[in-house]
Amino acid sequence: MTSNEQTNPFREGLSSRPMPQPCTVVIFGATGDLTHRKLIPALYNLAADGDLPSSLTVVGFARRDKTDDVFRKELEDDTRKFSRQSVQDELWKSFASRIFYHRSEFGDAEGYKSLARRMEEIDAQFGTRGNRLFYLSVAPSEFEVILENLNQSGLNKSPTGGWSRVIVEKPFGYDLATARALNTVVNNTFAEADTFRIDHFLGKETAQNIMVLRFANAIFEPLWNNRYIDHVQITASEPLGVEGRGPYYEGSGALRDMVQNHLLQLLCLTGMEPPTDLSADSVRDEKVKVVRSLRPLRGEDVAANVIRGQYAAGAINGKNVVAYREEDRVNPQSMTESFVALRLNIDNWRWANIPFYIRVGKRLPKGGTEIAVQFKAAPQVLFNKAGSEVGANVLVIRIQPDEGISLRMQAKIPGTALRIEPVKMDFHYGTSFGKASPEAYERLLLDAMSGDATLFARRDEVEQAWTFIDEIENAWHKSPTPPPLTFYPAGSWGPKEADEMIEKDGRAWRRL
Ligand code: BG6
Repeated sequence: MTSNEQTNPFREGLSSRPMPQPCTVVIFGATGDLTHRKLIPALYNLAADGDLPSSLTVVGFARRDKTDDVFRKELEDDTRKFSRQSVQDELWKSFASRIFYHRSEFGDAEGYKSLARRMEEIDAQFGTRGNRLFYLSVAPSEFEVILENLNQSGLNKSPTGGWSRVIVEKPFGYDLATARALNTVVNNTFAEADTFRIDHFLGKETAQNIMVLRFANAIFEPLWNNRYIDHVQITASEPLGVEGRGPYYEGSGALRDMVQNHLLQLLCLTGMEPPTDLSADSVRDEKVKVVRSLRPLRGEDVAANVIRGQYAAGAINGKNVVAYREEDRVNPQSMTESFVALRLNIDNWRWANIPFYIRVGKRLPKGGTEIAVQFKAAPQVLFNKAGSEVGANVLVIRIQPDEGISLRMQAKIPGTALRIEPVKMDFHYGTSFGKASPEAYERLLLDAMSGDATLFARRDEVEQAWTFIDEIENAWHKSPTPPPLTFYPAGSWGPKEADEMIEKDGRAWRRL
């Protein structure tokens, strides 16, 4: 495949839009990791690619005392470390001259009043027209106090007829009840249309490409159903452990951390019906229908269809690593799962009786996220006669690393004998387009500035996903006879029970 930006349907449909209006991005939690590793490098890269208005300003809001200059220097050091493109001195200087630091407690009303005054000055000096994007990069326990203060200080409304929006980072709630409560607090301050719940998987290039693959090519959609597809496997594997996030992860586990959001989003993009158009609501209407059609897993269904695992000590790339229970600030008797495998069914016409297997885990041997669509085998005649079976077609959408798509098919090995072997037709983003994909946060920040919520989770999507996940959590943690937590050595592909679950169906997990 070759690049052709003029006729690329993705660019014409989802992405072609004018430069966002000048605005101020206010980051709560400005001294945190996400700001330093992702948000500021993303804004810098957008600026370097000419995608931002030159008057864009950034205000970092946090509790520690520091000057604008110290803040800029810290951001510069980290942007040099984490940026996708190397930092150019002149460009950084001009970008950084529009970054400011605002010190305040999150609950101090005075801090918001002085922020409002400061933003008016910024509007006057830089022509940002009262447009503001608030980014809540803080622990969920801080959301409410920040939102209430934004409301009371009037910062949630632009003083000059511009716009005011909020981006909320995950975790978006802990269960359905907390997600609903949080949604109510958010929507008391910002209209749903101005609320952007970020799921960074949706900003990944290949995740966005799922819709293009399905709806801009005529050959896949006729096959994309229970007549031709045998099953779908979605895998997200990470060699990393909890990496110092013990306290957060202990209250979360793999199901809440990855499945409720990222993995169900990938499932929706894979399983949804074609939307009527590419507007944010049309796309999200279709995605929420998929979650609504998930067959609920409750009580005994959970033991049969969900395997939870936790890593024991083992080795990753030849290096010994400790068990989950020995990680920093993790309960030595923890029952938190670092791995989960699920067998799901989408009970609608398209997917009736087609299982979707999902697998996600930490301390697995290799990092990779992919969606594998396994087609049914060719009829049992000719080359596929019993006794000489040839494999089925598999379409693999690689979300990361090495983003791309491959199709496995059968081919004759050259020679006089008739021997058949699987071969791959492979598309790699890197080589086909000759340029690096933007980071997920670049795309998502730009979309929020442009008011495009297509790649953000809507309130009903989030709540519906929790409705599904809560039943599983209840079976694990509230049932008198919960299904067991299983263990796997770090560096293996998860507990043997996960293999047994899929093998009972006569299938096997793919090797990444
Ligand atoms: C985050 C999870 O949302 O996604 C992490 O909290 C996980 O536990 C991460 O490691 C994976 O994202 P990526 O982009 O590194 O695959």
